[in-house]
This record gives sequence, C-alpha cells and structure tokens, in this order.
Amino acid sequence: VLDISKLYSKAGIFTYDPGFTSTASCESKITYIDGDEGVLLYRGYPIEQLAEHGDFLETCYLLLYGELPTAAEKKDFDLRVTRHTMVHEQMARFYQGFRRDAHPMAVMVGCVGALSAFYHDSIDISDPHQRMVASIRMIAKMPTIAAMAYKYTIGQPFIYPKNELDYSANFLRMCFAVPAEEYKVNPVLARAMDRIFILHADHEQNASTSTVRLAGSSGANPFACIAAGIACLWGPAHGGANEAALKMLSEIGKPERIPEFVRRAKDPNDSFRLMGFGHRVYKNYDPRAKIMQTTCHKVLAETGVNDDLLEVAMELERVALHDEYFIEKKLYPNIDFYSGITLKAMGFPTSMFTVLFALARTVGWIAQWKEMIEDPSQKIGRPRQLYTGATRREYTDIARRV
Ligand code: ACO
Repeated sequence: VLDISKLYSKAGIFTYDPGFTSTASCESKITYIDGDEGVLLYRGYPIEQLAEHGDFLETCYLLLYGELPTAAEKKDFDLRVTRHTMVHEQMARFYQGFRRDAHPMAVMVGCVGALSAFYHDSIDISDPHQRMVASIRMIAKMPTIAAMAYKYTIGQPFIYPKNELDYSANFLRMCFAVPAEEYKVNPVLARAMDRIFILHADHEQNASTSTVRLAGSSGANPFACIAAGIACLWGPAHGGANEAALKMLSEIGKPERIPEFVRRAKDPNDSFRLMGFGHRVYKNYDPRAKIMQTTCHKVLAETGVNDDLLEVAMELERVALHDEYFIEKKLYPNIDFYSGITLKAMGFPTSMFTVLFALARTVGWIAQWKEMIEDPSQKIGRPRQLYTGATRREYTDIARRV
C-alpha cells in the first residue's frame, strides 16, 4: 500500500506539481518575467529598450556578466567572440556523416554535443577561466555551426566566418553567400536578425533552460549541456512552435477560413490548438510578440515580399483578441506567431527556424548554467515522483505465467 508519509521530504512537505507550474527550481538574477503584466527584463533592463537600442553581443555581455558593458568592455568582448568563430576543421568533416535530408536540428544536437570532443581545454567546470572560455566559444561558434548545418542540407559549400562583419551580418553571409559570387549583407535584414536574436536570448526557467540546468547539475560539460537544451527546444510545444504556426497559417490560407479554425481551437473534443497562441507564463500580450510584429513589417517592406499569410495572421490575431474563449483563457499571440513569417521572408526554410532560436538561446542557456555552477548551494537536480504503479508482488516462473 502506498505510504504517503514516506514521500515527505526532509523539509516536511511533498509537492506533486506536474509540469512545474508552481514550483521554483532555483534562484536566479538573470531574467525577470511578469506574465500578468507582459513584462520581460534581462538583468533589470526591459526587452523593448534592449531590442531598440542595443545589439545582440551587448545582450550576451549583459546576460553573462550582469551589467551593460562600457565601450571598452564591449570592444574587448566583441573581439573575444570574434576570435572563436571558426570551428575545428575536423568538425567540418563531421557533417559529411549525416544524410543531406537530415533535419538541421538533428545535425545541431550532434555537432554541438561533439564540441566537447574537440575543445578539451574548456570542459573543466571547476575552473572559472575554462567556464568563461567555453561560454565565449559557444556564443561564437553557434552561428558557424548553424550556417554549416544549413549549407550541408542544401548541398552548398560551407562559407567561413568573415570577422570584420558584426555577429548577425556574419551569420547571414555564412547562410546565404555562395563562393563564386559577391554577397553584400542587407543592413536592414542584419538588424532584424540581431533583434530576433535579442528577443530569444533568455526566458528564465523554460523547458530547454531547465534541461540545461538539470544536465549541468550532474557536472556534465557545458557543450553536452547545451546539446541537451537543443534537443529539448526541438519540440513543437517549445521552439518548434514558429514552424507549426507558419504551417497553420498556410493551412488556413485565407482570412475567410479563420472562423473554422477558431471554432476547432475552442472545441473541447478537438485537439487542435492555435499555434503561436498561449504561453505558460504570459497571461497577457507577450512583449516579444509586439516587437516581432514590428520587425515582421520592416522585413516584409525591405524584401518586397508580399506574403498573404501576414494578412491571415493579423486577422487571426484580431479575431482571437475579441473572442470570449481566448479572452477568458488569457491566450495571446506569443513570440512564435510572427517570427515564422519574418524568417521565411528573410529566406530561411522552416526547418531552420528552431535552429535560429537555439543559436540565440545559447547565451541564455550558458548564463543560466554558469549561474548554477557558481552557486555554492547548487545540488544535483533530482525530482521526486508520486508512485502509482503496482504494490509489491512475488516473481512467478515464466512457465507458470498465464
Ligand atoms: N489554442 C487553443 N486553446 C489553447 C491554446 C491554444 N493555442 N493554448 C492553450 N489553450 C487552452 C487549453 O486547451 C486549456 O483549455 P482547458 O482549460 O479547457 O483545458 C487552457 O487553454 C490552458 O492550456 P494549457 O495547455 O493547460 O496551458 P499551458 O500553460 O500548459 O500551455 C502552451 C502553454 C504549451 C504554450 C499552450 O498554450 C500551447 O500549446 N500553445 C500552442 C503552441 C505554442 O504556440 N507554443 C509556443 C510557446 S512559446 C515558446 O516556446 C517560445
């Protein structure tokens, strides 16, 4: 018989909280979210201000060090990142082992995990210097690894980093340049890319970040932990949602079909959900979704892409924001709602959307991992369970089983 009293922890209580909806797993000084008010702060700074005035590497510095850099610190940080953008040449060969039609997220999980096989001088987690080198390496190499994953799947040669370009421009060039042709990075698109990276940089204890912390709590090396985060992010309820949102908008196809899909989303007997709507924490408009919507308009205007799906998205948002069901359940567009249309207009295939998310979130994962490792009260993460299986029974010989 299940003896509940045996489940009580040393603190005298036992909580059963599926999905951790009301359990804090750690203390953190990195990111603050007020889901009811729609507020997101990185180290105290509002996401709107960082996205408007800053750049992604400045956000990386802020998340890692806790303060905005001075001009000299920023210059030094940019240089340190730039020095690590190349990946080991053996890594480039590693890609050849994958099928060309492999999903780039599958390639990312493998290649990022494999970094620990190449950079042995930054996997001793007890050494603060090695921890910082690993952090810088991850931030610097992710665009190169991601662009290589893309180039490999489309059968084009890798484009190596060109370090006089800034972080996001360099990434766009590695994705879209081809060797024999001149490629000039469009500054409007580079700025949009940078802003998208800022918006995705951290989001406190979401599923993938919690995965990174849990993996890291056993003392696993940072590259392996980030690979675990990438694997978790791949799921459609998390990082895969923008791909799913874009697919849904294509399925809807035209504004006249919106009522049919809204009806399905509200039907308790239909498992269909409006992708890009709702959030575990935001019970108000996701502040990142607003910035993403503006970025989407800018990118479409710059590229001249006339995407009917934008019209469908805006009408769907309007309908949902006035619908009793969505109002009552506090379901608002999340960051993924407009990011798919934006990335598509920039030239990325849907299979790359989650890869871009992983690239940007790497800094959040690594900052959270460092914070955990540097916390003296850190313990291995080991959730309890509420056992509901069979009570004790005796083994029967296989010949006597019916
Ligand atoms: N469309 C229709 N109904 C929804 C939606 C939706 N998108 N999201 C939630 N609901 C309903 C649920 O059916 C549930 O109804 P009930 O109370 O009648 O059972 C209620 O709202 C609460 O939903 P939960 O799934 O319990 O909420 P939870 O906080 O666990 O889920 C989640 C959050 C996973 C994001 C959910 O809203 C969802 O599936 N959204 C669509 C996928 C998506 O856009 N994910 C991106 C998340 S953001 C990110 O990862 C960057």
